[in-house]
Amino acid sequence: MGDFERPITFNRVNSLDNWLIYPCHQRSVQEGVEIMAAKKKEEIDEEELKVDDVPLDEEEDTVVVEVPEDEPTLDDLPGVGPATAEKLREAGFDDMLAIAVMSPSALADAAELGEAVSAKIIAGAKKLANIGGFLSGNALLEKRSEVLKLTSGSVAVDELFGGGFETQAICEVYGEFGSGKTQIGHQLAVNATMPISEGGLGGEVFYIDTEDTFRPERISQMARGNGLDPEMVLERIHVARAYNSAHQMLLVDEIKRMAKNIEVKMVIVDSLTSHFRAEFLGRGKLAERQQKLNKHLKELKQLADVSNALVLVTNQVHSKPDAMWGDPTKPIGGHIVGHASTFRLYLRKSKGGRRIGRLVDSPNLPEGEAVFMVTGEGIRD
Ligand code: GTP
Ligand code: MG
Repeated sequence: MGDFERPITFNRVNSLDNWLIYPCHQRSVQEGVEIMAAKKKEEIDEEELKVDDVPLDEEEDTVVVEVPEDEPTLDDLPGVGPATAEKLREAGFDDMLAIAVMSPSALADAAELGEAVSAKIIAGAKKLANIGGFLSGNALLEKRSEVLKLTSGSVAVDELFGGGFETQAICEVYGEFGSGKTQIGHQLAVNATMPISEGGLGGEVFYIDTEDTFRPERISQMARGNGLDPEMVLERIHVARAYNSAHQMLLVDEIKRMAKNIEVKMVIVDSLTSHFRAEFLGRGKLAERQQKLNKHLKELKQLADVSNALVLVTNQVHSKPDAMWGDPTKPIGGHIVGHASTFRLYLRKSKGGRRIGRLVDSPNLPEGEAVFMVTGEGIRD
């Protein structure tokens, strides 16, 4: 993926003792970087280790979920050789479904191919893409019955969400700087480690930090605010700093792999869009950016579904001065992010340190607002 070198593979999936994703009380992000450098040196040894290290398949009883791994690749498409595959990848089409839904002329333009070739590729992608099946209403209801609801620490916010933040969903929290997005991420991370009977998700939390704003000290404060042992909470929150958008996407792959052995109950991406926004500048790069974001979100949604987990992503807003009416601030990522998110919470700062959260998009809940505070102990009414 680009010039980013995959730093490490989780050959021992159920071991979290790794620089990439680590219990955050043990190592700071900076330390993680240093460890990365050291690990690189050890990589040859690691390779050798891998050969003897095959206990995972034998420990089948520890496997929690299965994520399908053998998806067809571009090279499986009829008439696609290495050169064409490269062109498609460069244009951001590294996913069957993304190709299958294109028109021949649009694909020809985007990937600089002939229209006839594009039509053939699209026809092939339609056959190979996993378009998804139909479930009976009852099967769907059964899956929905497994949905868990995570408390935010504020009764008003929980009510806005019909009892809490749902699993099997992506929730996007967007708003301007300082509106409380990262605070909500920290609070939900803490709460997710609590037992289900206490409004938690009773599982492990994975925090992808793109802006270096994760603070274990803040987690400790919030844990104490909930009457929890900070050490125990920090042990269950695993943080990785994402250095660019490609790395950010790779980290989701790593979590998927780990989800086979670990109860992944929450994934936080703070922020979802900052790397994408910085790396894909200008109109010319917009299509590519949106395609990558789309793929990223699809993988996150798959993780949410398969692991019955909550995915929380944060997003900044940009100002649209040409907006004729309504609020001129709009979340980054446009329709792609909007459509991929099951719930969207728009945060605004208000008087006296209060925050207003507005539920913007939800499949089954009315739009509404809740007022909450960010206190020393965390999110409260
Ligand atoms: P950007 O990432 O810059 O877009 O902002 P954000 O939406 O993530 O903001 P964030 O969640 O970091 O909110 C920062 C605000 O939370 C601060 O301005 C404070 O008002 C509040 N806050 C953060 N930490 C504490 C704390 O320890 N105690 C209290 N009382 N408030 C805090
Ligand atoms: Mg933030």
